[in-house]
Amino acid sequence: MADIVIIFKTGNPVPMVIAPEHIKMMEESISGKVIWCESEEEALEKGLDGEILFIWGGNGKMPVDWCMQSKRLKMIYSFSAGVDPIMESDIVKLPIKLTNARGVMAKTMAVTAMGYIIGFLRFFPQMRDNQLKHEWSHNFGSMPSEPEGKTLVIVGAGAIGTEVAKLAKMMDMKVIGVKRTVNEIPGFDVIYPDSQMNEAISQGDFVLAATPLTDATYHMFDMDRFRHMKKEAVFINISRGKVVNEPELIEALESGVIKGAALDCFETEPLPAESPLWDMKNVIITPHFSAPSEKFMDRAVNIFCKNAKRFEEGRELLNIVNI
Ligand code: OXD
Repeated sequence: MADIVIIFKTGNPVPMVIAPEHIKMMEESISGKVIWCESEEEALEKGLDGEILFIWGGNGKMPVDWCMQSKRLKMIYSFSAGVDPIMESDIVKLPIKLTNARGVMAKTMAVTAMGYIIGFLRFFPQMRDNQLKHEWSHNFGSMPSEPEGKTLVIVGAGAIGTEVAKLAKMMDMKVIGVKRTVNEIPGFDVIYPDSQMNEAISQGDFVLAATPLTDATYHMFDMDRFRHMKKEAVFINISRGKVVNEPELIEALESGVIKGAALDCFETEPLPAESPLWDMKNVIITPHFSAPSEKFMDRAVNIFCKNAKRFEEGRELLNIVNI
């Protein structure tokens, strides 16, 4: 028998909502209880304990103290894809299995990524600026463009990168992947190993970061990397802010080393009001919002429930994170 403890407050730090039907699904997946509290403090105060913890491990404060004092914790499921705050904490020293929601948000993130690409090619941000000034203008400095024949380089050809590649192919883009171990993946014309990243990114009209944050990817995109990109390239980040050296990205954008950027994540979130990125005409900013959709939680809870059942039955878990 296993009990599930949920530590999550809607809107903090993400706008996902746990609905009564999600709790019901969880209750039906195990023989034990489902106990929901909104904060680690509440869980500690009430002396809650359980074998399975359900949290958002993507950003924000992790319930490290609760995990360390738990007598029963054996499995954590984070309904984010990225689990870097958990990996950076003492939680990973515990004899637990860490699982995540990878794959769950790939489709929505891919749609968001294509939205940025289309926005840049079709001048949507500029046209919106003109609309607010009641200005009918065709003057954007160049003709609008189209995806066909443009090259997209995807750094991190995992579940998210593969979904972006699929959509990009549907729009007749050339798709290049960069990955630790090279293998054939549908949607990619060619895949380069990490060691040839500069050669790969030098071909991109768009260069998209879709890698997890690890010691190896921290500040992977710095001035040296931007200098390897085309001057007309647009850099897109839907992974983690810390894979980018942000001051160097700002410099690259200000000095024309690259043409523009679409950024969903930042070294500090929320992005501080004084960041120069806010005022840059060549930058699209979204508030770490590439993944959410009204279907997200149903999908994330569905995988979780399969995993909770597997846990109780002593079977191999899905989506294990290699700690
Ligand atoms: C995630 C995210 O990690 O949305 O899932 O940031």
